[in-house]
Amino acid sequence: MADSRAIGVFDSGLGGLTVMREIAHRLPKEDIVYFGDTGRVPYGNRGKEIIRKYAVDDEKFLLQHNVKLIVAACGTVSSVAADTGYALPVPFFEMITHAAREAVRVTRNHKIGVIGTAATVGSGSHKQAIAALDPTAQVTACACPMFVPIVEEGWVDAGDELVNAVVARYVDPIIRAGCDTLILGCTHYPLLRHAIRAVVGEITLIDPGVAVAAAIQDYLSATGLFNADGGGQQRFFVTDKTQSFQKTASILLGKPMDETCVELVELEGL
Ligand code: DGL
Repeated sequence: MADSRAIGVFDSGLGGLTVMREIAHRLPKEDIVYFGDTGRVPYGNRGKEIIRKYAVDDEKFLLQHNVKLIVAACGTVSSVAADTGYALPVPFFEMITHAAREAVRVTRNHKIGVIGTAATVGSGSHKQAIAALDPTAQVTACACPMFVPIVEEGWVDAGDELVNAVVARYVDPIIRAGCDTLILGCTHYPLLRHAIRAVVGEITLIDPGVAVAAAIQDYLSATGLFNADGGGQQRFFVTDKTQSFQKTASILLGKPMDETCVELVELEGL
C-alpha cells in the first residue's frame, strides 16, 4: 500500500531546510511540503508558551496540506512543544528522540554533549531523552545563541578566526567535561560541523536531521507508505520573505533556492 501524500516539514524559519535536505537525500521519491515561519523567527530565545502556540499554528498549516506525516525540524519546537505534535492525527517526528538514541548508541564513555538554542537547552529535553535510554550517561548542555546569526551570515568556514573563537568559547564546557559525543541540537549547527570539528577534535558529532531521516525511512518501510511513483516534488511556504531570504535559504539548502517554488502565506484564520 503506497501513499503519495507529501511529507510535511516545519521550522521556525529556514533552518529546517538542513533537515529537509537530509530527508530528500534519503527519500528522493517523496514529495515534501516545507513550512518556515520566517515572519516570527527566531523561536529559540522566546518563552515556552509562545513557542507552543507557534508550533500549533505551524502544525495546523501543514495538516491543511494533507501531509502523511509531520516533522518538527526545529530543535526548539521539538524541545518544548513535542506533545502538540504527538497529539496530531498523523505520525509526528521531532529532533530529540532519534538524536538521543544515536548518541547513546555511539558514546563509549557515556559523556554526551548537547548544543542548541537557549529554549532547547533550558528545556532539558535531550537530558531527559538520554536519561531514559542510559541512566548512567552524563549530559553537558550549552546554549549557543550566536551560532544561528553566524551561519545565516554564511560564516561557516573552519579557518575563520572569528567563527573559531565563538565555537571554542561555547563548546569549552563540553570539552572540559570529557564528552566523546556531541549532539548538534539546532537546525543551523550541522553547517558549522567543520568549524566545530576543528575545535573539538575527535568527538563524534550527531546530526539530528540524519537520524530523523533514517527514522522516517524505517517508518515508511514498516508501513509500506512510500510514495511509489513520486517525483520528489518540493513546495515551500513562508510567512515572510525578507531581503536576505534568497541568501539565507541557499546557505541552508546547500544550493540556490528556486524562488518560483516559494509561496508567501498568512497564518491568520487557521
Ligand atoms: N530552528 C531553530 C532551532 O532549531 C533555530 C532558530 C530559532 O531560534 O528559531 O532551534
